[in-house]
Amino acid sequence: MTNVSGHEAYNLLIGLVAPRPIALVTSLNLEGKLNAAPFSAFNYMGTDPAIVAVGVGNRPGPAIIGKDTAQNIRNRREFVVNIVNEVIAEQMNVCAIDFPTGMNELTEAGLTTTPSSVVSTPRITESPACLECREYTTVEIGRSRIILGLVISIFVRDDLLDAAGPYVKAEKLHSIGRMNGLGNYVRTRDSFFQIHRMSYEEWLKQKGRPKDR
Ligand SMILES: Cc1cc2nc3c(=O)[nH]c(=O)nc-3n(C[C@H](O)[C@H](O)[C@H](O)COP(=O)(O)O)c2cc1C
Repeated sequence: MTNVSGHEAYNLLIGLVAPRPIALVTSLNLEGKLNAAPFSAFNYMGTDPAIVAVGVGNRPGPAIIGKDTAQNIRNRREFVVNIVNEVIAEQMNVCAIDFPTGMNELTEAGLTTTPSSVVSTPRITESPACLECREYTTVEIGRSRIILGLVISIFVRDDLLDAAGPYVKAEKLHSIGRMNGLGNYVRTRDSFFQIHRMSYEEWLKQKGRPKDR
């Protein structure tokens, strides 16, 4: 397909770039009102410094109006990414409802908050891990805002952390991923398999070839 419309590109891209992790983003507006919304256009982009990206589309309609999350992050220059697992999957979905002004998504979803370590935006207590972020920049391309956040503090629940690495006990995290829209998600429970990362020497040995350098 060529010359795909925005709507077609959305449908195809979310089906192909999948599964996607979900950032349940908490942010504060200028009056200090807390906001929470999920975004699956989300990933880490670098580790030195630690940086994440969140893609936030504008509100539907011809006018260029950013979603509350994007506006809050521009205004306060900070946000928290709360990791979504099976336990809070339904609550995360409630946070995506476009509630009228004055209603709090977290209260409606039955989620509670805990103060973060560094930023003034609280994290979600029921979330197993969170990334406290300072906005590095927001890039506006067409009707999308790509928010780059420097990760300045990472919280992982004790039972999910192997201090030796430190590693996340990913098989216990039970995080979920978003698929092609249409309400489709994937679990990560009991679905791990291993592929050994080979060196060039191991590759040659496996193929029975002599070492050539
Ligand atoms: C699982 C899930 C993932 C979503 N991912 C995105 C996304 O990546 N970008 C986006 O703009 N909206 C996404 N949405 C929709 C927003 O969450 C929704 O528009 C929300 O109301 C925005 O809230 P806000 O105005 O408080 O920021 C997603 C919704 C769900 C349920």
